[in-house]
Formats: sequence, structure tokens, C-alpha cells
Amino acid sequence: MNEPRKLFVKSFGCQMNVYDSRRMADTLAPQGYVETSAPDDADLVILNTCHIREKAAEKVYSELGRVRRLKEAAAAEGRRVVIAVAGCVAQAEGKEIIRRAPAVDLVFGPQSYHRLPQLLARAERDGKAVDTEFPLDDKFDHLAAPSGATIRMRGVSAFVTVQEGCDKFCTFCVVPYTRGSEVSRPVQKIVAEVERLADAGVREVTLIGQNVNAYHGEGLNGRPQSLAQLLEEVSAIDGIDRLRYTTSHPRDMSDDLIAAHRDLRKLMPQLHLPVQSGSDRILAAMNRRHTRADYLDVVEKLRAARTDLALTSDFIVGFPGESEEDFAATLDLVSEIGFSGAFSFKYSARPGTPGAEMSDQVDEDVKSERLARLQAEIDLQQQSFNNRCLGRSFEVLFEKPGRHAGQLVGRSPYLQPVQVTAPASLLGEVAAVTITEIASNSLFGTLAQTPARELAVLGAGA
Ligand code: 5AD
Ligand code: SF4
Repeated sequence: MNEPRKLFVKSFGCQMNVYDSRRMADTLAPQGYVETSAPDDADLVILNTCHIREKAAEKVYSELGRVRRLKEAAAAEGRRVVIAVAGCVAQAEGKEIIRRAPAVDLVFGPQSYHRLPQLLARAERDGKAVDTEFPLDDKFDHLAAPSGATIRMRGVSAFVTVQEGCDKFCTFCVVPYTRGSEVSRPVQKIVAEVERLADAGVREVTLIGQNVNAYHGEGLNGRPQSLAQLLEEVSAIDGIDRLRYTTSHPRDMSDDLIAAHRDLRKLMPQLHLPVQSGSDRILAAMNRRHTRADYLDVVEKLRAARTDLALTSDFIVGFPGESEEDFAATLDLVSEIGFSGAFSFKYSARPGTPGAEMSDQVDEDVKSERLARLQAEIDLQQQSFNNRCLGRSFEVLFEKPGRHAGQLVGRSPYLQPVQVTAPASLLGEVAAVTITEIASNSLFGTLAQTPARELAVLGAGA
């Protein structure tokens, strides 16, 4: 038998890339590739890239410099290393990547992952291969499923892509160009995938999509189903204790989805709902298709449906034309809502997007200064949210051994990491924990006596 070939995949960017990287590894497993966590002994290195901000793309090029040196060192020992660039930078830049980084052998976009074995063969035969087509067939039908052992190795919390692409065309965003238009997977295929995960011990599933709440996949009755209906189906699967979904658009936060937060016990009380700005003028320029009032209205409905809901969001500062007054409206929205955490970014002009053509670009210094102010406010809110957890009890899903012997690390319903002194037998289980200490965004706790299902929930607001 041939020696297994070693595969090193590095993911940049969003959770969908993490999921895609795993599916690439699954697709290559039947070809004799085993994953390694050390790039130095890999025969195939795949960088699964992100194009959302300029820095993300630049990181790929500097990583390619390091990988090129590994390739040269291996070649000196007579070993061939194949370098592949996948993901959104690959989709956007195509052949340009090989021009800038000639050590790269293979460039392919997010719609080509199932053709990876053929693309590798082509790169071996022709020296280089580039594939950034949007084929009409459904890649999910061709992507191999992971084995039970592989699922177990990856842990008790899994991502499942249910929707890909975006039709919203926010004026700052490359996603509609790199991932294409919205496609939803059929309910039956998603349910089958989650059942397989549950059989192998997965307890928490996060349904992912660039615009996940626009989900409209074909249901068992042949008609399009909403994300709320999909969540209900997935929630009926034995063994799955926790459900999450990300990332959502405020416009698609429909009444049935809001009601799902009230009705589905397995749906965790945490929602990532990007707002980007608190200024109506900027929201309009961003083509967000919602106002500040629309966002506040959705948040109010959500909090009425589920009082213990914690909200996180994304913000962009320094979008073209953003005045100090517009930025103040963002700060004001943040204090009005009270987030448990948020990501905030300086606007980065992406070639090909309408925002990049706008004349009134904001100075980098101004962007940096606004970002620092926004992040300081968000940090305070996160600390305040964490502090409110002190003395509370809630369910923790134990994911891995902790920093010290006898400790496990799990996640709270709000996604906070929690370190607990607990027996290893609780790995992969959900147990009640009382929070006893908070230190720089890490929570510490002890196993609680209260039966997990009867715990008091954390109140909203305050
Ligand atoms: N510049 C800065 N941030 C961006 N995002 C998307 N595009 C850009 C851009 N051009 C941010 C948005 C989005 C998150 C995933 O990345 O906040 O919600
Ligand atoms: Fe990008 Fe807007 Fe689509 Fe989100 S909704 S992926 S920000 S275009």
C-alpha cells in the first residue's frame, strides 16, 4: 500500500471556510490524504482564503511566502509539495495569484471543492490549474461525507452549511461576487447530514450561511421552507441538544423565525445580527435595506420572544461619507441595545464593489480613531454582560480538556468559554454550571446541583 499523503489546510475568515476546509479534507480522504497539523511535513497545502477585507487578502500573500519556503526546502530533499489556494481570494483573483506567487500550483473557488481530486490531477499533469467557474450542478451532492471517526475527532459542536451566497449587494461587500447568488440546500439533505453528526456524538449544530435567514430550501413536501421550519426539523433530531444559526440579515428576521426563539427549547439564546451602522444615511448608502428603527423593532420583538436573548453584531466604521454625527448615531445605537459582544472593522474598499467607487472616502486616521472608540464601548458592554453571569447557573456543553488537569472547557448558551473542574466523563455532555469567577472574558465555574433543565435564565437588558 502507498504511504498516506499528508494534507495541511489553513482556514482564513468565516465559519463557512472552516466548514468548507473540512469538506475538502473529507473529499481527499478516499484519495489517501490524511490531515496533519504541521505544514512542514505536508505534501499538499491548501490555504482556504477570505476576501472580505484587504488585510485578509494580504495575510494570504504573506502566508504564501512561508509556504513557498517549505516547498523549496522539501524540493531540496526531493519531495514535491503542492500548494493550492482556495476560497474567496482564489475566486476573486484567479490566475493573478499564480502571477504574484508562482509557487502556487492550484487555484480554485468555493464552487469547485468537489472537483478537487480532478483539479489536483490536472495540476500534476499540466503544472498549474485554475478553476473559478460557477458550475450549475450542486457541489453538495458530490462532496464526500466525513467518517464517524473523523466527526468524533472534530468535536461535539459542528457547523453545517445550509445556504450559500447572497443577493443583498451591500455596497461594501464582496460576498455576492465571490460566493455568487443565494442557494439553499434541501431540508432532507441537511437533516440527513445532522443525523449522521448526531450518530457520531455531535451535540451542538450551527446552521451556517452568508445570509442564513434568507434560507428557502426545498422541504419534504417539495415546497420552499423557511429557516424557522428547517430549525424545527433539525430540532427533532435525537442527540442534538443545541442549535444555533449564523449569519443573519435584519431584513430576513421573519415573524416565524422570531417565534422559533420562543418555541424551540434547543435554539440557544444568542443571536449574531449584524447592523453595520446606526445612521440611516449610512445604512442607505450601504444599501442595507433596513433603517435603524427597523433594527430596533426586530430586537424588541426578539427580546419579547426570548427574554434571555444575548445579541452580538458586526459594525463598519468609516464607510464613505460617514460624518462624526453618523458615527455618533452608531455609538448611540450600541448603548441603546446593549450587546454581549461585537466585531467591528474599519471600512476597507473592495475592488469591484460600489463602495470602492464612492468619492467621499474617509481618512485612515479618522477610521482608526472611531474604531478605537467603538471597540472601547463594545468591550465595556461585553464585560458588563460577563459580569452579570457571575453567580448564575446555566448549561455548559463540555468540548475539551481544560488548561489544568481535572478541568474541562465548555461553552455557555451565550458562547462564552467556561473553565470548570469536572470529570473527563462529562466531555461531550451538557451539565449545569454555576459561574464563580470572571477573568478577562473567560468564565470559571463549578458543577451545579440544580437539574440542568430547570435553571433560571439570564435576564435581558439591565
Ligand atoms: N470593509 C470592512 N468590513 C467589511 N465587512 C464586510 N465587508 C467589509 C468591508 N469591505 C464586515 C461586515 C460583515 C463582516 C463579516 O465583515 O461587518 O458583517
Ligand atoms: Fe455581504 Fe450584505 Fe450579503 Fe452580508 S447581506 S453577505 S454584508 S452583501
